[in-house]
Amino acid sequence: MSSASPSSEERPTPHALIVDDHSGTLSSLAELVERHGFSTSRAGSLADARVQLKERSPDVVLLDLHLPDGEGMNLLDDLDPASSPAVVLITGQASLDSAVDALRRGVSDYLTKPLDFDRLRVILGEVSQNQGLKKEIGDLRSALSERRAFGELVGIDARMREVYDHISRVSPTNATVLITGESGTGKDVAARTIHAYSRRRRGPFVALNCGAISPTLIETEIFGHERGSFTGADRRHRGVFERATRGTLFLDEVTEMPLDLQVKLLRVLETGSFTRIGGEESISIDVRFLASTNRKPEDAVRDGRLREDLYYRLKVFQLAMPPLRERKGDIGVLAEHFLEQIASSEGTVKRLTPEALDALSMYSWPGNVRELKNSVYSAYILAGDEITPEALPAEVKGGGAPDSVVEHAIRVNVGMTMAEVERRLIVATLSHFDGSKAKTASMLGISLKTLYNRLQQYRQQA
Ligand SMILES: Nc1ncnc2c1ncn2[C@@H]1O[C@H](COP(=O)(O)OP(=O)(O)OP(=O)(O)O)[C@@H](O)[C@H]1O
Ligand SMILES: [Mg+2]
Repeated sequence: MSSASPSSEERPTPHALIVDDHSGTLSSLAELVERHGFSTSRAGSLADARVQLKERSPDVVLLDLHLPDGEGMNLLDDLDPASSPAVVLITGQASLDSAVDALRRGVSDYLTKPLDFDRLRVILGEVSQNQGLKKEIGDLRSALSERRAFGELVGIDARMREVYDHISRVSPTNATVLITGESGTGKDVAARTIHAYSRRRRGPFVALNCGAISPTLIETEIFGHERGSFTGADRRHRGVFERATRGTLFLDEVTEMPLDLQVKLLRVLETGSFTRIGGEESISIDVRFLASTNRKPEDAVRDGRLREDLYYRLKVFQLAMPPLRERKGDIGVLAEHFLEQIASSEGTVKRLTPEALDALSMYSWPGNVRELKNSVYSAYILAGDEITPEALPAEVKGGGAPDSVVEHAIRVNVGMTMAEVERRLIVATLSHFDGSKAKTASMLGISLKTLYNRLQQYRQQA
């Protein structure tokens, strides 16, 4: 390169440690890696590898699964957590089990023999681009216990610090993450944060809301189609697998995806390739998958909404976003954060009185952070210079449901399913607000999208 940017001048030569007992593989790998501008050290056994690690800490380790003196994975314990090299496992048999287990234990990627050199080139490119990322994550991790925020996520409660810890560990890997949690707990924000701290952060982040797209359109949205594959397909359409290439694909509300499509998705996850609708060509994907659901995944499996095999494939790593009522310590910090955001867009600073803060802390927040954000916003609009409890929504200052809603009580019997209780509450609230979906969603503390999904379901079941 003729004009080096300051950051590339500072960047040292990346270093790779290659561990394989087959000398032919070892030297061909080393040559390829060196051609990519890496320096290399080589080892034929675990013992050799440990010696090499003491000499120099690598940016990437290419690690054979089986070595003469033990399993390659044993080396993971010897790696310096501060420098956290990318570990690429090289395995003879395409055994998904050992690869998935390896991803859980911190391996970034795996390659099966015979080696796909193109894929390896992509990985090496990512490693050399992301030397800065390692340091950034290392710095983030060391300050985790004092952090008020991580990416776009705000919160100081121990439960959130645990979330930050998990995100910092899983982000730099290629592992699929299933993000669970009630509506409004920050699953979208968590997904974006994982992408922002991943090796793919310079690539696209594509979110597909599986609940908001009609079942007839979702298949083309995912797979894309060839020209002329059906009436109206007048040109080729790139689906999300293609649009998310070298980036992250977020399958939001994955339990709302039609079951036949879940089968097809599973096949893509397992084979790493797909074909466009109406096409013949098999296209390899280069995508990291994240998925979310606001249902309990085990319940969704039991109710037949989520295929069990897909569930196991998605939850290589499960990230649970805790409800706000279980991290009350975050209420004040979040409220202040939202007030700052509003002040910077509206221009006027307004503060919460201690009494208003108490009221916020006493409420149970069924709609989680989204409900808090909306309440703070409406209080800001209603209040003068200071936000007193009077400016807060009725249900918040009352510490429970407002009287007008209690008048419209619903009947709940022991023996009912949660789904039925939920249905009754939604229908009653909707009727209380004369059919206003916006008011209903806001009162129930769920997103409009979730409300639409539920109503659509009820119509289908009727
Ligand atoms: N920890 C957080 N810090 C700052 N903002 C947050 C946090 N958690 C959630 N939010 C904000 O709250 C709102 C709801 O969050 P988000 O959309 O991520 O929830 P969700 O879990 O995906 O909900 P749903 O299941 O309804 O899709 C967003 O405006 C988001 O920016
Ligand atoms: Mg969401």
